[in-house]
Amino acid sequence: MVKNILITGGAGYIGSHTAEILIKNKKKVFIVDDLSTGYKKLILKNTKFYKTSILNKKKLKNIIVKNNIDSIIHLAAVLSVGESEKKPKKYNKINVEGTKKLLESIKNTKVKNLIFSSTCAVYKDGFTKVTEKTKLGPTSVYGGTKLKCEKIIKTFCKKYKINFGILRYFNVAGASVSGKIGQINKGDQLFKNLSIEVKKKKPIFRIYGTKYKTKDGTCIRDYIHVSDISDIHYKVLLKINKYNTSTILNCGYGKGISVNDAIKSFRKYTNKNLKIVKFPNRKGDMVKVISNNSKLKKFIKWKPKFNNLNKIVKSCIIWERKIN
Ligand SMILES: NC(=O)c1ccc[n+]([C@@H]2O[C@H](COP(=O)([O-])OP(=O)(O)OC[C@H]3O[C@@H](n4cnc5c(N)ncnc54)[C@H](O)[C@@H]3O)[C@@H](O)[C@H]2O)c1
Repeated sequence: MVKNILITGGAGYIGSHTAEILIKNKKKVFIVDDLSTGYKKLILKNTKFYKTSILNKKKLKNIIVKNNIDSIIHLAAVLSVGESEKKPKKYNKINVEGTKKLLESIKNTKVKNLIFSSTCAVYKDGFTKVTEKTKLGPTSVYGGTKLKCEKIIKTFCKKYKINFGILRYFNVAGASVSGKIGQINKGDQLFKNLSIEVKKKKPIFRIYGTKYKTKDGTCIRDYIHVSDISDIHYKVLLKINKYNTSTILNCGYGKGISVNDAIKSFRKYTNKNLKIVKFPNRKGDMVKVISNNSKLKKFIKWKPKFNNLNKIVKSCIIWERKIN
């Protein structure tokens, strides 16, 4: 049975939403986070928090053994594509070495299941709808570190007979309808940046790249609401545990949304005249990436609850108004 779950990065954006769903489902939730981009106020009541880095193998092992952890949801990472191009060593250390340390700390414990947050940034750029079998070829250092982690996890879990679920998230956005949690850390995420900007008296938004070969010249992504992605973690965890199986799954709605589409939706919702400033393309950015989510739908009989751009935008704006 899945009972005691450790979330690394549980004080972060997706980690806090995942904790919320696990608690709702009466699971015991333990959190390891060094609060580098996470926040104490995102740590929900009824969870046990350890402020530590995933690089601290000894502490991790103690936490896992002491709390009889049976499942781990590994989200702790650094994730800015732009920063990863400038600081590749940092990305390799935290994402790749951190994952190795976590895996070493699992040896000879009761951990049976591991969920890993991978990304669509592992795929080669330029495909319209990617399946899990589409050619891999990260455009960014960040995507490269996640692909390395996937390989290390697969080898380790096969050797030590641990079920794994590698979730390749597409772009995550929105906030919980509970109103308690949402995204605080800015990073380089489109919806977060738009939410911050539309609160200003004279909002100005920078678009990086307006001459891509897409319908309107801007990048295209497949945005998924954070509560849907968090629910996927829970359902995949139950399934891999029940059937002692492992899998890799694309997690997106399968819909392409351009930067301009998102801007239009924010303008419509807030009635603000968002001024646009055009900037050159950023190194490492993919042009277009959209998921084929058939495998996910089949694996957990998935029915998303927030598959609607306006719903996502609305939840972002409500949260942003609340936090300041
Ligand atoms: N947000 C997205 O759109 C998206 C898309 C694809 C994949 N992901 C993946 O999802 C995961 C969570 O991302 P998020 O959006 O919630 O970001 P986030 O920055 O809010 O969460 C990451 C958490 O990890 C913690 N952390 C970082 N380094 C750590 C370390 N060495 N030890 C312990 N904790 C550490 C941070 O403090 C933070 O709380 C990441 O692995 C990311 O790569 C996110």
